[in-house]
Amino acid sequence: MRSIEDIKKDFPIFTNQKDIVYLDSGATSQKPLVVLEAEKKYYENTNANPYRGAYKLSVDSTSIYNTARHKVATFLNAKYDEEIIFTKNATEALNLITFSYGLDNVMADDEIVLSIMEHHSNLVPWQRVAQAKNAKLNYLYLNKDYEIDDFEIETKITKNTKIVGILSVSNVLGTVVDIKKIIAKAHQVGAVVVLDISQSIAHMPCDVQDLDADFVAFSAHKMFGPLGIGVLYGKKELLEKMNPFLMGGDMIEYVYEQSTTFAPLPHKFEAGTQNVGGAVGLMTAIDYILSIGYSQIQMHDRELITYCIEKLKSLPYITLLCPKDVNHISSVISFNINGVHPHDVSTILDFNGICIRSGNHCAQPLMRYLGIDSTCRISFSIYNTKEDIDKLANALEKIYVKFKKYIDNK
Ligand code: ALA
Repeated sequence: MRSIEDIKKDFPIFTNQKDIVYLDSGATSQKPLVVLEAEKKYYENTNANPYRGAYKLSVDSTSIYNTARHKVATFLNAKYDEEIIFTKNATEALNLITFSYGLDNVMADDEIVLSIMEHHSNLVPWQRVAQAKNAKLNYLYLNKDYEIDDFEIETKITKNTKIVGILSVSNVLGTVVDIKKIIAKAHQVGAVVVLDISQSIAHMPCDVQDLDADFVAFSAHKMFGPLGIGVLYGKKELLEKMNPFLMGGDMIEYVYEQSTTFAPLPHKFEAGTQNVGGAVGLMTAIDYILSIGYSQIQMHDRELITYCIEKLKSLPYITLLCPKDVNHISSVISFNINGVHPHDVSTILDFNGICIRSGNHCAQPLMRYLGIDSTCRISFSIYNTKEDIDKLANALEKIYVKFKKYIDNK
């Protein structure tokens, strides 16, 4: 097993930005050199438009793209490579599902069930479907420990439910959701599940066959891969029946003046020139994760989360927003300093070289449900250390001293 100090050396940013403490991997992770180099090597040696040319360079580019697809399929344990559709990011993958599946399959008075923790990308598109089809949007709410109770699952997912949209880990609260239980309940009533694993894929494996997942979405950039490429997994029998989302080059079979027939999977959903360089980066990021291993990643997450919660709990002016059971928290923690706006906290932390996210985290319905406007959010990755948390705690103490007057009056 490699030490975290050694693993951290894989990431050039920590050599180039020596003094930063990066606690925003939930927004985007840093990239290891192997990923950056693999992408560069592709552009330097094999760059050509895939699927377009009969010449060797283009054929090689196509072959690399398909190798990346196979790598993702194996990573997710998908049955078929063509169940993997490359997209721009998780948001585009989720929009694809809502437009290509939702609009054609949700009917008047059907119910769409989402958790109140959903990121806007698995929520706003469903509002569009609900409005267009006169369907109802219902939410799975949280108990006082920021988790979804069984009662909520049993009573909200009913025979009227057509879609269940659920994330595996909340990007705000860090809550790990029992997705297997939710998928089983959804299938019991005949609903289709749209799973957003954006926050979990860098931290825990996803086996789509074991989960019996219908649709799964994630972005490469949160799992050590490049920006600009994401993945949609869909069961073949569902994808085959769906209409394309984006129309244009290479997603067609025959185009006539008045009509078009579409290409088979996966091409039907991949219009336009594809991001082969991004796919190379993603494929290399998968190898990178597997070379470290999810068991080391999870052990490290557990250690950091436990340490961080203890530290933050020792600061009386901090309100934590996370499940009570640390085993139900992934790699994200939200907190607030009573009386100081999260944007002020993050700006002052930045003066101390500490990068965190503040705001509503693209989860406004969750914020409203919790009765707050915003939070400070820290999110970890494999390169974070206990020393990073100590630096955070010291900087928070400085903020307390500076704002003491306002904090103590709260
Ligand atoms: N979805 C990303 C986050 O939670 C951007 O920060």
